[in-house]
Amino acid sequence: MTLEYVNDELSINGHGLSNIAKEHGTPLFVYDENKIRNQCRKYHNVLKNAGLDYSISYASKAFTSVQMVKLLQEENMKLDVVSQGELFTAVKAGFDAKDIHFHGNNKTQEEVKYALEAGIGLIVVDALDEVELIDSIATADIDVLLRINPGVDVDTHEFIQTGQEDSKFGLSIHNGSALKAVNAIKESKHLKFKGVHYHLGSQLDAEAPFINALESVYKWLSDESIEIEVLNMGGGYGVKYIESDLRFPVESAFKNIIDRLNSLSRAYDMQIPHVMIEPGRSIVAEAGTTIYEVGVIKDIPGLSKYVSIDGGMSDHLRTPLYDAEYEVVPVNKTYSDNVNTHVVGKLCESGDIIGKNLNVPGDLKRGDLLAVKTTGAYHYSMASNYNQMRKPAVVFVNDEGARTIIKRQTLEQIIENDIL
Ligand code: LLP
Repeated sequence: MTLEYVNDELSINGHGLSNIAKEHGTPLFVYDENKIRNQCRKYHNVLKNAGLDYSISYASKAFTSVQMVKLLQEENMKLDVVSQGELFTAVKAGFDAKDIHFHGNNKTQEEVKYALEAGIGLIVVDALDEVELIDSIATADIDVLLRINPGVDVDTHEFIQTGQEDSKFGLSIHNGSALKAVNAIKESKHLKFKGVHYHLGSQLDAEAPFINALESVYKWLSDESIEIEVLNMGGGYGVKYIESDLRFPVESAFKNIIDRLNSLSRAYDMQIPHVMIEPGRSIVAEAGTTIYEVGVIKDIPGLSKYVSIDGGMSDHLRTPLYDAEYEVVPVNKTYSDNVNTHVVGKLCESGDIIGKNLNVPGDLKRGDLLAVKTTGAYHYSMASNYNQMRKPAVVFVNDEGARTIIKRQTLEQIIENDIL
C-alpha cells in the first residue's frame, strides 16, 4: 500500500498530496506510477510462469495519454484501441502499431483506413459486414481475430456486461453467425484468420465465467473444426473500490484458467494457442486518486449534510452512471468524529454525486482537501466538458516526486472549436 498517511498527510511513496495539490491545483488526478508498473509486472509474471506463449494488451479506454503509453511500452505491454483517437494517441507516443490491435463494434471506413495505414498489427472483426469493409480497404494481408459471443452471463452491472447472447458486441457461437463470419474471413482476399476474441464483462471478481467461456468456446471450435493460433480472452478483472469489493485474484484465478486451457487443449487435441488478455481497469484503477477542494458545506437540520467539492460528474461519472461507490478521505487527517455526509459535485444536476452517506470528518471546512480513492480507471477517460468544466490535470508520482502528464484544460481550449 503506497497511498498512506505520513505525519497525518495522505502521501504517495512519501510525497504529500497537499503539496502536490497546491502546486498542480484541483481537481487533480494523481497516479502512483510504481503501482501501475507493478500491476503490469504481476500479469507478466503469472502468464510467463505458466509457460504460455502470451501477450498482454492494455485496454486504452481505461485511461490513456502519451505518457501513459510510453510507460506501457517500457513495461512490454501491447495495446488495445477502440477508436481512431486512441490509436492516434498511441502512434503519437511512438508505440509500434504492430503491437496494437483494433476493436470496436462499428469501426468506420475512415478508422479502418487510418489503422491499416498506421500498420496496425491486428484487427478484431466484430460483424459480418466488417469482413467486406476491411477487405475492400486493405491493400495487403492483415491478421484478424473474430470477436465471438460465448453466451456467458456474468454477475456485474448491466451496463458493463458484454458476453451475453443479446449484445451489440461480437457474433454468437450458438446461432451460426460466428461460423459464417469465420468462413467469410477465410474466403476474403486480405484478411488472415488468426483466432478468436471474447470479452465477458467488466469488474468481474472470480474466474468462473472465464472457465465457462473456455469450455463453450473449445466445444464450438471442435464442433466446427476451426483451428486457432490466438485466443484473446479480453479483460474485466475486478478491483477493490470499497472494503466489501472482492479484487480479482490474478495469480490463483489465472492458474485455474490456464490449467483448464491446457486440459481442454489436450482433451480436444488442439494446439495450445497464443493467449492474449486485455486488462484495463486493473492496471490503473487502484493507482489513481482524485483530489478535490472542499467549498460550500450545507447542513440541513434534521435532514442531510452536504459537502460540495470543486469537480463532479465532469470528472467523476461512475457514481451518477453506475451507482459506483468510493472511499473518500481527507488529505490531512483530522481527529474529529466522522459524520454522515453526502459528498457532491458542483455541476447542475442532483445526480452529481461523489458518494452518499459517507463517513467523513465532521470538522471539514472550506479549503480542505478530500481524496477519492481508486479513480484511476474510467474517470479521466470518461471526463467531459459538461457545464463547460475544464478537464483536470493528471500527474504521475514516482520515487522522485510528481510530474504533470496531462495539463489542466484552459478556458480558451473550452471554446477552441467555437466559431467566434
Ligand atoms: N477488452 C474489451 C473488448 C473491452 O470491451 C473492455 C472494456 C476491456 C477489454 C477492458 O476491461 P477492464 O479490464 O477495464 O474491465 N466504463 C465502464 C467500463 C466499460 C468497460 C468496457 N470494456 C466502467 O467505468 O466501469
